[in-house]
Amino acid sequence: MKNPTLPEHLDMQVELPMVPPRSKTRPSVASTEATRAIEEDPEIPHLSEQEMIERIQVLRKERNAVILAHNYQIPIIQDLADFVGDSLQLSQQAAQTDAKVIVFCGVHFMAETAAILCPDKTVLIPDPEAGCSLAATVTAEEVRQWKAQHPNGVVVAYVNTNADVKAESDYCCTSSNALKVVQAIPEDKEILFLPDMFLGLYVQRMTGRKLHLWMGECHVHAGIRSEDILRMLREHPEADLLMHPECGCVSQCMFALAEGELPAERTFIYGTGGMVKHVRQSSAPVHLVATEVGMLHRLKKEAPQKRFIPVREDAICEYMKTITLPKLYRSLRDMVYEVRVPDEIAVRARRAIERMLEIV
Ligand code: 13P
Ligand code: SF4
Repeated sequence: MKNPTLPEHLDMQVELPMVPPRSKTRPSVASTEATRAIEEDPEIPHLSEQEMIERIQVLRKERNAVILAHNYQIPIIQDLADFVGDSLQLSQQAAQTDAKVIVFCGVHFMAETAAILCPDKTVLIPDPEAGCSLAATVTAEEVRQWKAQHPNGVVVAYVNTNADVKAESDYCCTSSNALKVVQAIPEDKEILFLPDMFLGLYVQRMTGRKLHLWMGECHVHAGIRSEDILRMLREHPEADLLMHPECGCVSQCMFALAEGELPAERTFIYGTGGMVKHVRQSSAPVHLVATEVGMLHRLKKEAPQKRFIPVREDAICEYMKTITLPKLYRSLRDMVYEVRVPDEIAVRARRAIERMLEIV
């Protein structure tokens, strides 16, 4: 059977990035204001987990709030959420909800996307310092300079970007729709794809379109190496491999597939939403998961009878993990922290997000 997540001709040459990733300071979450506020709170440190859950259940009704959580959130947050999903599904849920308040358990750019799509709702994030190393690799000023070098270029921004970067972009995309978005742009247009170089290389390989790539990377996925994948596949010949296209080894894995070192019938490149769909349908008893480890809880809930093994146990996004139960409770109790995007940025960023939502 044809594997839709791999190129039709595996033996075509694969281009590897020639330029090293851009080095930018990674945001720190070692001690956030929200963490300190919890430590100093007169009530929260004395509550048990169960008491916090009970209070959250009351408050979510009183506030008419919906709790949205990304697939990488810690298990207790996923279990409490009204909806758990990938970045595209979460923005679609935000756009559709009738709730007055959206408590976004994910990283800041995701909550910002919800705020852009729902200007009449209150969007809260339990810790606003939940950043993203990938989003931090590009600023709006850098996009303006890049565009000046390619005045006819169409800018496609991965959703893992700050609102002011989206405002400089023509289209947004996520890992689940990047191929469709790029394919929707006329062939004669130059495309500036940012900020993830590995996703960009994958899209280039799948669509056959030459893209200008921003050399950004996510530190969690960049650390997943082809050696890890090859070793795990050798150890588990019965397993399907699920690999996120942000992984630093996607291009090497394409080489390995072409060389026959990786099995094309067992290797699947998906965003987190695609992984969930895959495990619902696949007959493989074991799945090797090459992405952030929070995904394992989500996949186990989807297919409890199957076994899931992380390709790297240390693939942990500290930004996603900075959202905790006490912070979720405080967020609902004190209505903090509200995510607001200035109107002049939101209007332009919304255009790029809505163009994406029209395609998918
Ligand atoms: P997904 O859109 O696949 O959920 O990815 C979001 C993300 O941050 C990956 O690191
Ligand atoms: Fe950003 Fe990487 Fe964390 Fe995803 S896993 S939120 S891309 S730092």
